[in-house]
This record gives sequence, C-alpha cells and structure tokens, in this order.
Amino acid sequence: MASIVKHLLGVAVITGAGGTGIGAAVAKGFARSGCTRIAITDINSKTLSQTKEAILSVNPSVRILDRSGDIADEIFIDSFHEEVFSRFSRLDYAVNCAGVLGSKTLKAVEMETGEFDRLNSINYRGSWLSCRAQLRNMLKQEPLDEQPKQRGAIVNIASQLGIVGRPGAAAYCASKAAIINMTRSNAIDYSENGIRVNCVCPGVIETPMTTTSPEMVEALKPAIDIAPMKRMGTVDEVSNAVLFLCSTQASFIQGHALVVDGGYTIN
Ligand SMILES: NC(=O)c1ccc[n+]([C@@H]2O[C@H](COP(=O)([O-])OP(=O)(O)OC[C@H]3O[C@@H](n4cnc5c(N)ncnc54)[C@H](O)[C@@H]3O)[C@@H](O)[C@H]2O)c1
Repeated sequence: MASIVKHLLGVAVITGAGGTGIGAAVAKGFARSGCTRIAITDINSKTLSQTKEAILSVNPSVRILDRSGDIADEIFIDSFHEEVFSRFSRLDYAVNCAGVLGSKTLKAVEMETGEFDRLNSINYRGSWLSCRAQLRNMLKQEPLDEQPKQRGAIVNIASQLGIVGRPGAAAYCASKAAIINMTRSNAIDYSENGIRVNCVCPGVIETPMTTTSPEMVEALKPAIDIAPMKRMGTVDEVSNAVLFLCSTQASFIQGHALVVDGGYTIN
C-alpha cells in the first residue's frame, strides 16, 4: 500500500508498536513515507520482533532500534529515548500508541483499585512519561533543513472514548480524556519551540485489542452500530491520520484531537 504522506525524512519513535495493531501500522507507514531511522518499543518482545520484520519487508534499508519494556517504567522510558537520541542523533516524530482497554466492561463499584491503577499507569502515565522524554530530546535539536519550521511532532493515540462516555468504561474513558488534555497543554507549552503535539482519537478499530476474545467482539457490537459508518475502522485508516499530523502538511495544526471514528462522536 502506498503512503499518502511523503518525505517523513527524520527519526521516528513509536510506542506500543508490537504485533498487528495501530502502532505496528504506524511504524510500517513511516517506512512507506521515506523514514529510514525508526525506533520501536512494546512490552511484548515477540510481537515487537514481528513489527521489525514487517518494517524491513517495506524497506530493507531502514535502520531500526527495537527495545522491549514497560511504558509505565520511568527508567525504561527515559533510557530508551536517550538511546534513540544517541543512536540517531535526533528525534523528529513520536507516536504514542501503547495502551490497554481492560478485559471486560466494569462500572465504578465493580472495579478494583488495582485495575484502575493499571489502566492509568499504561494509558495516561505511559503517555505522559513518553511525551516528557520526547520533548526533552526534541528541545535539544534544530529543525531539519527539509522542515525548517518544525523541530518535532508528537502524536498521542487517545480514543473516541476520551471525548464521549461509554457504559462500563469510566476508568478507560478518563485515562484517554487525560491524554487529550495533556496533548493540548503540552501543545501550548512547546508551540514557541517549534514542536507540535496532537492526538488521534480512534473509534472501534480492528486490532488484537478489539478482536481477540469473543466477549470483547460481542461487547463492542453496540459501539459499531452507533457510528454512522457501521463498521470497524482499519489500522491503516488511523495510521494515515497519524502520518499526516506528523508531516509538515499539518504545519498549523496544534493541540488538536482528530477523531477517526466513522462518525461515532457526531451521533
Ligand atoms: N482498537 C481500537 O478500537 C482502539 C480505539 C481507540 C483507541 N485505541 C488505542 O489505540 C492504541 C493502540 O491499540 P491497538 O488497538 O492497536 O491495540 P493493541 O493491543 O494491538 O496495541 C497496544 C499495544 O500496547 C502494548 N502494551 C500494552 N501494555 C503495555 C505496557 N505496559 N508497556 C508497553 N506496551 C504495552 C501491547 O503489547 C500492544 O502491542 C491504544 O492506546 C488503544 O487504547 C484503540
């Protein structure tokens, strides 16, 4: 599949990049868009290796740094980004995809504190730690000659459920709303440094997160029916939006939460 976005010539970092989900699609999308230095991370080393192979099948000359670790672990996240910067000398695009949904729908009184903490550690704290490390590195560099007005671009993956509520998903919805407002605030703080920070809010997308258990497939049916387009989105439909936001074609888009949801949130 050809990429609609060309000339992503800098260095890219993608978190939650293992397997066949949104992060892996974004990583392959960068390779199709001309990016030849890509760093990927995920907690699952096996699926991360699969993504490495998939990137190389798009372009065998891409230089890849892959490290497995926990997105909620401050020491891992800081050292991973330091290694990226020292290996590739810069960081131009960062896409934060690591996230968890929770195995079943739970109302507030049914949810244990441990599960609440797990969701927030991975979704919100993980995105916050990643953004902080990415901003630190982007601030150290001058813009590329090819993109003189852009020192760096960050895209966080939030969710349509960061914008609207859904039954039995209060903790997940709140963790994604936190990502949206963190995105806006980071965008305000780093605009004058030439760094753009945006997020993409996917609707129901066909990935391992939404398709691995029959219970999850059943639970998501009503959400698919709410969206006017009445289907799941594909990982490439999300990836295309992410790559656009990373590119200089989005040069005046700042702090935005772009829904890619088949119309779910307009209904
Ligand atoms: N699929 C959807 O319908 C949908 C909708 C809205 C938002 N999202 C968001 O998109 C992002 C990607 O999800 P996906 O659908 O591709 O699912 P996915 O399960 O394929 O991808 C999530 C990735 O995050 C990784 N991960 C989980 N816990 C981690 C941890 N502690 N440290 C590091 N990595 C960890 C997983 O191993 C996995 O590779 C998530 O943030 C998710 O919340 C997905």
